[in-house]
Formats: sequence, C-alpha cells, structure tokens
Amino acid sequence: MKVRATSHCLFPGAIVAVLGAFALLAPGAAANHPAPFLQPLPSPATLTGSDIALTAQEADVPIFAGTPTRMWTYNGTFPGPTIRRPTGKHTQVTLNNSLPAAVGSLSLHNHGNHSSPESDGQPTTFLVPPGGSRTYHYTGLEGGGNERGAMQWYHDHRDGVTARNVWMGLAGLYIIDDPDDPQTLPSGQQDVPMAISDRSFDSNNQISYTFQSNGVTGDHALVNGLPQPYLDVADRRYRFRVLNASNIRNYELELSNGQPMTQIGTESGLLPAPVTKQSILLSPAERADIVVDFNGLLGQQIVLRNTLANGALVELMQFRVNSHEIDTSSVPATLRPQESIGSPVVTRTFDFSRNGGQWRINGLPFDPNRVDAQPVLGTTERWILRNSGGWDHTVHIHDVDQQLISRNGQPPTPDELTKESWYIGGGQEVEVKMKFTDHTGRYVFHCHVLEHEDDAMMGQFEVVPAASPPAAGFPRPKSASPVTTALVPAYQPCTASNREHGPPLAFPSCGPPVQASDHLTVGTPDANGQAANSVGSTALRAVTGDPGTPADEADVKLTLNMTDVRDKTSLADYTGELQAQITRRVTDRYSGDSQTEPGTVADFPLEVPVQCAATAGAVGANCTVNTTLDALLPGSVPEGKRAIWELGRVQVYDGGADGIADTAGNTLFATQGLFVP
Ligand code: C2O
Ligand code: CU
Repeated sequence: MKVRATSHCLFPGAIVAVLGAFALLAPGAAANHPAPFLQPLPSPATLTGSDIALTAQEADVPIFAGTPTRMWTYNGTFPGPTIRRPTGKHTQVTLNNSLPAAVGSLSLHNHGNHSSPESDGQPTTFLVPPGGSRTYHYTGLEGGGNERGAMQWYHDHRDGVTARNVWMGLAGLYIIDDPDDPQTLPSGQQDVPMAISDRSFDSNNQISYTFQSNGVTGDHALVNGLPQPYLDVADRRYRFRVLNASNIRNYELELSNGQPMTQIGTESGLLPAPVTKQSILLSPAERADIVVDFNGLLGQQIVLRNTLANGALVELMQFRVNSHEIDTSSVPATLRPQESIGSPVVTRTFDFSRNGGQWRINGLPFDPNRVDAQPVLGTTERWILRNSGGWDHTVHIHDVDQQLISRNGQPPTPDELTKESWYIGGGQEVEVKMKFTDHTGRYVFHCHVLEHEDDAMMGQFEVVPAASPPAAGFPRPKSASPVTTALVPAYQPCTASNREHGPPLAFPSCGPPVQASDHLTVGTPDANGQAANSVGSTALRAVTGDPGTPADEADVKLTLNMTDVRDKTSLADYTGELQAQITRRVTDRYSGDSQTEPGTVADFPLEVPVQCAATAGAVGANCTVNTTLDALLPGSVPEGKRAIWELGRVQVYDGGADGIADTAGNTLFATQGLFVP
C-alpha cells in the first residue's frame, strides 16, 4: 500500500542535512513567494522529427517576475523540449555539450527507453565532453515488436554529478505514442504532460546546488518549470501525464474538491485497466498517467495538491474550469494487456541501505568496473529489491520494464503492475521480474534519489548472450574445392572527424553498408547450364548487434542469396559450407592510433545449411545462405578502444561432389563492422 509519509525523519542525520540545505537558500526565499496561480501552465516546445538536436547550454529562464533564472538547459528552456515520437520508428538524438567546460562531460539518459547500452547514457562511458557531441539512437523496438507507448523523460546521467546537473535544469520529457493504445483517451490539447520538480531560489531568483548525500530539496514546486501555474480547462476529461522530476522529494497528489482521479498508466505505459484513486504517490522518476473529468464543474477552480508538504509546496497548480465543451473522449474498461514474460530462471536480491557512511547496494559502492549481475539475453529474472534501512529509496532499473510479483509480501495492486521505478519505503521490499531482450551489454540500476545515486547507490548488470547452440552437423564436403576470393576493401577506412569521442558508433558503422547490388559471382554455368553454380547476389552486413548495440564481440550478419542453376535431384545436395577470414583492427578511441592485432587474422569455418525455395529437382532453384557469425569472433574489445572487424576472404562450398568449379572473374565482397566497448 502506498500511503505513507516520507520517512526522512527516521534517519538521524536527515533533519540536519535537509535544514542545512534550506539554511543556505532560505534568506531569499521569502522574496519570491508571490501569490499563487499567476502564470498559465507552460508546455515545453515539442520536437517530433526523427533527427533531433539537443544543445546543453546555459540560459536565462523566466520563472518568477523580475530577474530570470540562470539554468543549465536543453535548448534554452526548462524543462527541455518534449520529444514526441511514434513507436517503432528510429529516432536519433544528438546532444551537443555547449555548457561551460567546468561542468564537465555529460551523458544523456532516455529514462524508460529500451536503448542499447551505448545509447543509454551511461554514467562513466560514452560521455559527451565539453564542446563535443554524441548521437544516441533509439530504435523504437522491443522484444520483436514496437516499444510500449509511454511518457519517458530524458536527463543527464553523469556519474557523481547527476543530481547537480538535473537540479540545474537538464531534464525533459520524451513521449512515445503507440497507435495500438486506445485512441478514445483525451488527446491533443487535452493530453497534458506535467513535470513536477522542486527548487530553491535566492532573492535574485537564482538557483545553486550544494551536494548533500541525503538528498537536496527545494522550497518551491515547479510544474513544467513554473511555480504554481494555472490551466484553463473545459468541463470535460483531460489526460495528465505527471512526472516527478525532483531529486528526492515525494509528492502525494490529490484534487482539492475531493474528486477521485482515474489512473490509466505508469511510467511503463497504460495499465491493463483503469484504476480509480483518491490520491497518487509519486516518488522521484515515477510517472502517473491520469484522467480527470471536469464535467459538471464549470465555473469552479480546483487545485492539484500535494499532501506531503507544507507552504508553497502544497498547492501545485490550479485548474480553472471556465469553458464548456462536448466531450467525445472515453476511458475504455481495458487499456493494454499485461505482457507475458515467462517465469524467472534466476533470483537475485539487492539491498538498498547505508553502509560505511555511504548509500550503497548490497553493501557495495558503485564501481564502473564491477558487474553485479549477468543475466542471459532472452531470459527472465526475479529481483528482490529490499530497503532494510529507514529512508525512502526509489529503485530504477535500466533497459527493460519490470513486472511486480509482490510488494511487502502482498500481491501487486492493479496500479503498479509494470513499471521501471519502484518506490521502496523504509523496511519495504518489492519483488519484480523482467525479461532481458534485444541488447547485450552493461546497464546501471540505482536509487533515483539523485543524491543517493551520486553518492554510491548504483550497480551494474551486464546482459550476456546465450551460449551458441551446437553446430548443425552435416558432413563436410570432402571433394569440394573451395572458391577463394582475395580481400577487396569495399570500404574506405573510417574518416569520421571527431574520432576521440567517437562518431555515432552504430550500424552502419563508418563505411557504407554493402548493398544488395554488391555482387559475388561464384562459378559459371557450363554450356548446357547444368554444371555449375552461380551466386547471384550477395548482401553482407556488419551490425553492432541490433542497431546501436555495443559490442565487445562482432556480430556480423552475412546473407548470401545463391542461385543454383544445376539440376539437383535431392535436397541433401543443398548443403554447403562457408569459411570467412576475419581481421580485427583495434583503434584507440582517444589517440586514434590503430593497429591490426597480431593473431587476430583467422579462418572461421562455418557450416550452414543452404535453404532452397524451390522443390528438389527444379532447375534454377533459389537457395539462400543466411547466417550469423557472431559467436565465431573471439576476444573482447578493451576499454577505451574500439574495434573494426573486417570480413575478408570468403570461401563457399556446396555439399555436392562437384563443388564450385570456377573462380575466375569473381567480384569480392568485404565489409567492416565497428564496435565499441
Ligand atoms: Cu532516470 Cu538511471 O535514470
Ligand atoms: Cu535512495
């Protein structure tokens, strides 16, 4: 059950720490306690394109009357622009770091998104240095389908200074729209995102940040960046997507007229069914998607209240019901079914508490070189998240959403079935399960009280590939003589300018991908067209796993579309073998020095069945070799390096006694894949 007061006072140091923060900022606070509800609720600019530029920059943001507030912003506003994209569509977001150099490197995390590790905004790697930029790739895909529609948010995630950077303004909303979600919910002007965050201001309306490991609070609550705004509404339903973007403060939301709210979603998108609630608790990073019906309230003013605070932190914003409209929206009784993710095969327990004067997980401080769990790709795990101390924590796990198994031993309530940020009060425990899909590599999980995270309450897991299945085991063609092709570099070497910190580093790497029209011809039909093979077209791709997956192993997808013009009489004849020779060139990410490592040139025998579309005996069957070489490439890429795998000499056998006869005049194909540790 989620009704509880914040338990900060249970921890002896808390009051001192929080008062300490207030004391620094209190002198000017009285100067900016204007009357409430003076300014309309702003809505940040919305960006909908597939190629989005965010510039982290200082800006003077109008918040109170008088002097604007100097903040660190994305594109000059607080919150930053709202990114709004249809699910299933690729989106790239380029972050330019134009903040003063003293701010240091940044890292952009799309919170709630199913990103590859290199696009996830890691705290210590893939950073964006002052003056630098980095492009993050979001596929919009998850587990073989589209990502769930949801309101996510993006924010800075740099290790040790995330709390400061977010406090100074580096946060914005990211909405994924899914056409499979019910379309009758309030939309357009009636779909209103709201980010709530608290800040303190000096007498000149300025903010500053002093780290306190227990958490930093402000004495004003801002909704979409303004204190106590109002919103003109009609007497109809509205959808409010509410984010708690605060560093530590919890809010318990209720409406001043006592009317219930209909919760339709969490941070992980729509619930299976709507839930009626009198109040809604939001701890840091949690979102609630709610529908409020102002029908029958024309002429009234209703305040969105926070029951967990006093003073200017109680009345968050005001709704002024001042126009009449016919409402054609509705909230269907079923919204989005709970996904089935199978039964957990592994259980892990993580305890979030204080040890050695730090906020830690299982007694260990964050260490970027330590991996705390290695779930296997494609499997489901049960994680027990325990808070054995007295403070509140909110546990956020990156990469994939989690489903609640139990909270404090009780079955889940219908309002928190699938989420990715879990409020865990003192002495509480939640048990979740999640299925690791699509991406291998490292991700973090941490307390989303940002100061706890920066202190040390963060861990890492690494999704590892499943062991490769045993090879198919068909006989090696003894009498076949291989077609051997010499390496032809189909690519220019990587010439991206900003090599120190890397080009986007996602597929299609630096070189152009091999085109379907790149041609490999193997063998020539004899005079009667009966005695030879030809490989009609060849497509060869090197990908970093799914687009953007990091990779310390090469994952080369090789597709051969073979046309066989011989008159085969048995399907057994349609088996083949392929050998590829692969070179690994390793480049230092900072100096750009590169070398072909000794011992990395090797032959990789690969036996694959050749599948033919036509029936046995047909002439001109279309046969395809379609396989993945990933498990065959050895070694891992050291930290700070990246590797280019070049697929060179390829030998193709077929399983018939005749082999592949003629190599003359063959066009060779080659490709390279770029991988980043
Ligand atoms: Cu919202 Cu790891 O963060
Ligand atoms: Cu915490």
